[in-house]
Amino acid sequence: MKESMNTPRAVWNNQFGFMMSAAGSAVGLGNIWKFPYITGMNGGGFFVLFYLLCIVCVALPVMIAEIYIGQKSRSNAVNAFCVLEKRPSSWKIAGMMGVLATILILSFYAVVGSWIFYFLQQSIFGFERFATREGVQHLFLEMTELAWVSFGYQLVFILATFGVVAAGVTAGIERLNKTLIPGLVCIIVLLLLYSSQLSGFSQACKFLFAFNMEAFTAGGMLEAVGHSFFTVSAGVGIMITYGSYLRSDAKIAPIAGTIVIVDTLVALASGVIIFTIVFSEQAAMSEGPVLIFKTLPLLFAQIPGGQFIAVMFFLLVTFTALTSSVSLVEVPVAYLSDKGMSRKAALSSLLCCITCLSFFCFLSVSAAEPLTLFGLTVFDLFDQLSSKVLLPISGFLFVLFFGYKLKSPSPFVELYPAVWVRAIMKVTTLVVAPSAIALVAVKLLLFS
Ligand code: PFF
Repeated sequence: MKESMNTPRAVWNNQFGFMMSAAGSAVGLGNIWKFPYITGMNGGGFFVLFYLLCIVCVALPVMIAEIYIGQKSRSNAVNAFCVLEKRPSSWKIAGMMGVLATILILSFYAVVGSWIFYFLQQSIFGFERFATREGVQHLFLEMTELAWVSFGYQLVFILATFGVVAAGVTAGIERLNKTLIPGLVCIIVLLLLYSSQLSGFSQACKFLFAFNMEAFTAGGMLEAVGHSFFTVSAGVGIMITYGSYLRSDAKIAPIAGTIVIVDTLVALASGVIIFTIVFSEQAAMSEGPVLIFKTLPLLFAQIPGGQFIAVMFFLLVTFTALTSSVSLVEVPVAYLSDKGMSRKAALSSLLCCITCLSFFCFLSVSAAEPLTLFGLTVFDLFDQLSSKVLLPISGFLFVLFFGYKLKSPSPFVELYPAVWVRAIMKVTTLVVAPSAIALVAVKLLLFS
């Protein structure tokens, strides 16, 4: 519990700043490259409805729990538990797993960030290369062949992220998100308007929102639970850390509600935009890097005004990646600076650590002889260790701590003045969310 009391803790300039920063963390690549695909694969309408239920019953309670732990303790993701228990607490292990997860995620996020930067640059200066399948294939291969160039992009991504965090919580993180998130919403609206003019628009809406019961399976349900949890960046302590900069009189429940609504609307809009483009060109749907770096570039070259749309799209992806990675850096930085390190020293040591680890991730996907550990590339190992092990376990522990350990005053009474809302949130927080996360964790660990 030895904490640095030298500098007063940062406080967001206003609630809008917190909301934009938390939404910036939540809205990420998952909204663009994962949600549309899993929705399509699981029958559209019913899946979307079930996903919305998961957002309310799983993602929202976990998010509220994390923000509450941060706001009440005014401490980082590890020490918050000791502050709230008023003694050294073994619950801090959950926070430590979160901190470790942020470091692993950042290391491979930087590699993806370099691909995004490269494609953004190519959409401006080398758009003619999007015209053929070979051109697009070659572009992606170039990322691995021109090793030093792509590592250069990776360094730019890392430095940009750290540069923002170095400017501070309000002057860096809050200002970036207050600018980029409204910008991101404008780009989404523009792309939506554009896609409504394409031939595949109504087919895309039908596909996403039509009720196709046959394609909706138990596997799809678990997918929805897992994604709802991942999409709000739960389980790594980001919301604890960001919550610790929130004024003590800020009302958490409506703020968290707004954040999950923004995140869900961005996911749904991305689904409509991507499916419209895919259907207009009668292409096959894909997910992940293949969707962003292989399928879509080829399609951009075929649609009217494609270059402008491509630049807007890659700008959108850049914004989502940057705002999420900034939130990842703040978690260990807050931890180290609360421990007494200066913010500058915390940032420098973390910068060295992430640069080294992300170099191994880069080698593992770029070299002719990929660097592997336990039969996985370092990139995949970091990805799987964080998303399949650390995130579910720490998210599960965060919600248990909030629901069962915090007693007087009861967080439920404070958060939900309306009795019926309190009753619902008690059931979701104490029973539904922990059981759903446990189910997903078991499925991830044993069956994938
Ligand atoms: N919420 C992000 C997305 O939907 O893409 C993913 C994410 C970012 C998860 C950061 C966890 C995290 F710490």
